[in-house]
Amino acid sequence: MSNGKSQTVSAGDFTSALSLAANGVSVVTTDGDHGKAGLTVSSMCSVCADPALILACVNAENEFCSMADANGHFAVNLLTTSHTELSGVFAGLGTNPDVDRFNHGRWQTLKTGSPILTDALVSLDCNLVSATTHGTHRIYIGEVVALLSNESEALIYTNRNYAISQVIPN
Ligand SMILES: Cc1cc2nc3c(=O)[nH]c(=O)nc-3n(C[C@H](O)[C@H](O)[C@H](O)COP(=O)(O)O)c2cc1C
Repeated sequence: MSNGKSQTVSAGDFTSALSLAANGVSVVTTDGDHGKAGLTVSSMCSVCADPALILACVNAENEFCSMADANGHFAVNLLTTSHTELSGVFAGLGTNPDVDRFNHGRWQTLKTGSPILTDALVSLDCNLVSATTHGTHRIYIGEVVALLSNESEALIYTNRNYAISQVIPN
């Protein structure tokens, strides 16, 4: 509730504080008549189990947005600890940002046609339910229509680094 005083914090303070949160890393993808795109995100989370809804936040200027909006579907691929290089590729961090990102990793499709990473920890194939812009980002809500999972370990991003857990021997 507003008390008449400004309730906002600076973008710098906000970014520094939120960088301390630990999140799984995913690659969101879309492919269809209106184009193919993918990018690395740490903003995926579950919304609801029945119906099966997830959300992801994507910078509104990313080409993914116009394509996913028009294709009407997208997929979320949760990465494993073996995917740090792939995460960098889909974040455009390679030496050649023009490289076809989908040349990295093995891809298949399930129901919607959005690219599914064959060895992802979990892949969620989604029909687009809603996309709304808040500030610089669009919030994508998808209904999961198919999924895949593999036994592996989640890739976690925190404090601007990947946290690779160590197995403690017995
Ligand atoms: C670990 C990690 C998490 C990221 N999370 C997000 C995110 O949640 N939303 C987003 O829009 N960008 C996120 N990014 C940045 C995008 O991956 C990156 O800006 C984008 O791929 C580059 O833009 P381009 O696809 O137009 O080249 C993240 C990057 C990394 C490395």
